[in-house]
Amino acid sequence: MCGIVGYVGPRDAAPLILDGLQRLEYRGYDSAGLAVQNGHGVQVRRDVGKLANLRTRVERDPVDGQIGIGHTRWATHGVPAERNAHPHVSMNGDFVLVHNGIVENYLVLKDELSAEGVTFTSETDTEVIVHLIEKYAEITGTSDEAQIVSAVRQAVSRLTGAHAIVVLPVRKPDVLIAIRIGNAGGVAVGLGEGENFIASDIPAILEHTRRMIYLEHRQMAVVRAGGVSVLGPDGAPVDAQVHHVAFDAVSAAKGSYKHFMQKEIFEQGRAITDTLAGRVDRERGTVVLSDLALTPARAVAINRIVSVACGTSYYSALVGKFYLEKLARVAVEVEYGSEYRYRDPLLTPETAVLAITQSGETVDTLAAMEHAKTCGSPVWSIVNVIGSQAMRMADGYVAMNVGPEIGVASTKTFTASIVDQYLLAVALGAARGTLTAGAQLEAIDDLAKLPDILGRTLALDGTIHALAGTLFEARDFLYLGRGIQYPIALEGALKLKEISYIHAEGYPAGEMKHGPIALIDQHLPVVAIALRDALYDKMISQIEQVKARGGRVIALATEGDTFIASKADDVLYLPPCPPLLSPVMTALPMQLLAYHIAVWRGADVDQPRNLAKSVTVE
Ligand code: AGP
Repeated sequence: MCGIVGYVGPRDAAPLILDGLQRLEYRGYDSAGLAVQNGHGVQVRRDVGKLANLRTRVERDPVDGQIGIGHTRWATHGVPAERNAHPHVSMNGDFVLVHNGIVENYLVLKDELSAEGVTFTSETDTEVIVHLIEKYAEITGTSDEAQIVSAVRQAVSRLTGAHAIVVLPVRKPDVLIAIRIGNAGGVAVGLGEGENFIASDIPAILEHTRRMIYLEHRQMAVVRAGGVSVLGPDGAPVDAQVHHVAFDAVSAAKGSYKHFMQKEIFEQGRAITDTLAGRVDRERGTVVLSDLALTPARAVAINRIVSVACGTSYYSALVGKFYLEKLARVAVEVEYGSEYRYRDPLLTPETAVLAITQSGETVDTLAAMEHAKTCGSPVWSIVNVIGSQAMRMADGYVAMNVGPEIGVASTKTFTASIVDQYLLAVALGAARGTLTAGAQLEAIDDLAKLPDILGRTLALDGTIHALAGTLFEARDFLYLGRGIQYPIALEGALKLKEISYIHAEGYPAGEMKHGPIALIDQHLPVVAIALRDALYDKMISQIEQVKARGGRVIALATEGDTFIASKADDVLYLPPCPPLLSPVMTALPMQLLAYHIAVWRGADVDQPRNLAKSVTVE
């Protein structure tokens, strides 16, 4: 949450910062700001709302300098307003700062600083940090680097919570200081030639460099045009690892699509091919997950898996439970990261913890991983963002390999993470001896059918667009599914809520009669997943129950099922699909329906209100 960019080098800083922020806007778009410094002082520009407003502001009132910082905000403390936008400036103007995270003890610190005569100009928690740094700089106006670094360290030691901070010391105009405390989104330092960059997420700076240092907890980077020093918690220099990042920059562009979300929905056929590439050997019938570090001994020793995730990734984990239990015969519990961290969960070294997170930066999921590590449990992650904390923190990982997902609502990473869990289940099943060679081959053959099935499913786009035109004024929706389709009903409802702001609920179809049935009338569209599978007859009964009460049913059904057309008001026909993999297919019409309804309503599909792509605060 919140995007941060920093630059120091020979080039004009403002355009670089603005372009970097543009690529991070999915992290927050309540306000944006930048500070650029030159030999004559620092210039700060801030504006409320989207980055475009800041761009206009900077065009009207240009800034000039070769070092600077920028921020795009997802509001936590203080309404979206210019006074609460970052960067924040210390009272005497010696320090300027951008921040991602929450200062949990900010009220105490604010009282302390106020009593000492500091005047606050915002309602943010962040502002205390910049004043604290100035306080600890001891001699106002100091340009001594060691003193400045020490002041930042002292100030940060007073904060509770998790933080990513970049400081621009006005009196030392050739240096930026970045620091990471805990898991408030990463801090990457990009190494260029005679110039260096800072970003909370690497897409912001990948255009300029592929060489990255990721700051670890309590590390600080002193960044100059000519070099970067990384300091450990005690201030001693650290030999930081430089990562070389491969990235498909083209796939981060919208191309001919109207929205990133639309593009990402349509990419899924290809994306699944990328997810499978190099992992399945169809000749031998094996799955190879080389980054997972799964030894046969470990695979056999595991007697339980706890999957932790949030939001869409949580629903993906609910699907994965079916795979791991059926194919690898290991018991799975699925937990919300945000709930799990506040229990005292029972974990042993025989329980593997599987974190599913496209961003790899979701703070609640990371906290669950940390807890698992302290219990001695093996920790795996399924991530899309290479180099993210969830990837680096895990003992082993499975990458989604689907390229950057820019739309705030997850689509291709949802289906890719389901496929990754299927691969994991096959690999585990093979190692645990729960899958025969023939069953492995069959599972892999099924996977190979997916790109074609997804391509055929996406051909429903026009039909769904027209259907959405008849539904977009509804105030509530109910989504029903059973068994492995229940998580897809949950995900369908979440997608609709996120981007169209229509209230929607996902429900296990068999539970409808225990309460939600009271909601049904002619105004409530009910989206029911009723494929020709083992639960088909049950789903038909539930559709009958909705129809008997005047509800409008939109059914997702299997091609050739003419019977269902006599029951449902609208039918979306999907190609035959191997039952275990059918959630990957049914997710697509759910995404398209939400997308088209949102477009009909004129909503901001890629940047829905109040949301952010990486949720790095609690
Ligand atoms: C998905 O559409 C949502 N924006 C959200 O629920 C998301 O899935 C959740 O925040 C978890 O994100 P992660 O996968 O990056 O951990």
